[in-house]
Amino acid sequence: MTNRTDPYGRTIDYMRVSIIDRCNLRCRYCIPEDIQWLPPKEILTLEEIAEICRQAAAIGIRKIKITGGEPLVRKGCLDLIHMIKSIPDIEQVTLTTNGTLLTPCAKRLSQEGLNAVNVSLDTLDREKYAKITGRDALADALAGIAEMEKYKIPLKINAVLQQGVNDGDWQTLIQLAKDRDISVRFIEMMPIGHGRQFASISNEDILEKIQEQYGPLEKVQKILGNGPAAYFHIPGFRGDVGFISAIHGKFCHACNRIRLTATGQLKPCLCYEDHISLKEAVRGGSPADVQRLLLAAIAQKPAGHCFTQNREKITEKKEMAQIGG
Ligand code: 5AD
Ligand code: SF4
Repeated sequence: MTNRTDPYGRTIDYMRVSIIDRCNLRCRYCIPEDIQWLPPKEILTLEEIAEICRQAAAIGIRKIKITGGEPLVRKGCLDLIHMIKSIPDIEQVTLTTNGTLLTPCAKRLSQEGLNAVNVSLDTLDREKYAKITGRDALADALAGIAEMEKYKIPLKINAVLQQGVNDGDWQTLIQLAKDRDISVRFIEMMPIGHGRQFASISNEDILEKIQEQYGPLEKVQKILGNGPAAYFHIPGFRGDVGFISAIHGKFCHACNRIRLTATGQLKPCLCYEDHISLKEAVRGGSPADVQRLLLAAIAQKPAGHCFTQNREKITEKKEMAQIGG
């Protein structure tokens, strides 16, 4: 039973799996200070998550991204990575993290064969970092990044730029790609959760500013990572600069993913509240039930988001940390 092709002909082979809504940081566009955390009993157990990944592999999912909240806040995250890495048809397991808790985990992540890490980092300025994330933790994030390099775990930096806060920080952030094997990617702010309150800076403007300084950039043709980023090479730089332009460069036509929230909701699209609950099936049903629901979510994928036109049709009201960033 494998039909991982959605109604628009897209092959869905990638699942983002949020394992916890909690985070040790409080990025203002992601987690409001007064957030109500999910009661632990509503969150899937690690074994339930692994079982869903096994059934996802059976219907054709090949790549899993572990995300949160901050996934490393959850006890047993490394055991879960081990379990998912042991599924034969899963080709890649990657992690999205803020990096601050990476250092003590680096050795084990390397032993488990984690395929890549994305570290969210919006600035290299300590005070600004504290202002954006609510915590004075830049040094921990940088230490975590260095540790990934030490163990040669492929690394990408994800930065969200906010007008009047860190809009000029692309200058220093791209320097991380100069002499190091690091790709630096800019993600346009999406109107999800508290992100709605922030104007999205267009990646086209950032690319233009980079080109004013470095000259015309060559587009990198190969597809790196899981799809939506467009990469450019800056002459003399080791790493590439990438742009995930969800707003100003809509890429829904090439969407390859479904999302699993920490409570076991399968989301066909980030933009809409629509979901299919897998919790009951994984707790009391059969493997075939789980597979059927995974295929149903793929079959329900909409053509695309409505972040630019018809913003009133954005039905998803949860925070990014509750969905899986
Ligand atoms: N738009 C774009 N990216 C967001 N993130 C959190 N909220 C938003 C948003 N509204 C990003 C974080 C981090 C990842 C977890 O999701 O910056 O890179
Ligand atoms: Fe935590 Fe990432 Fe959200 Fe910041 S953006 S609060 S690091 S989950």
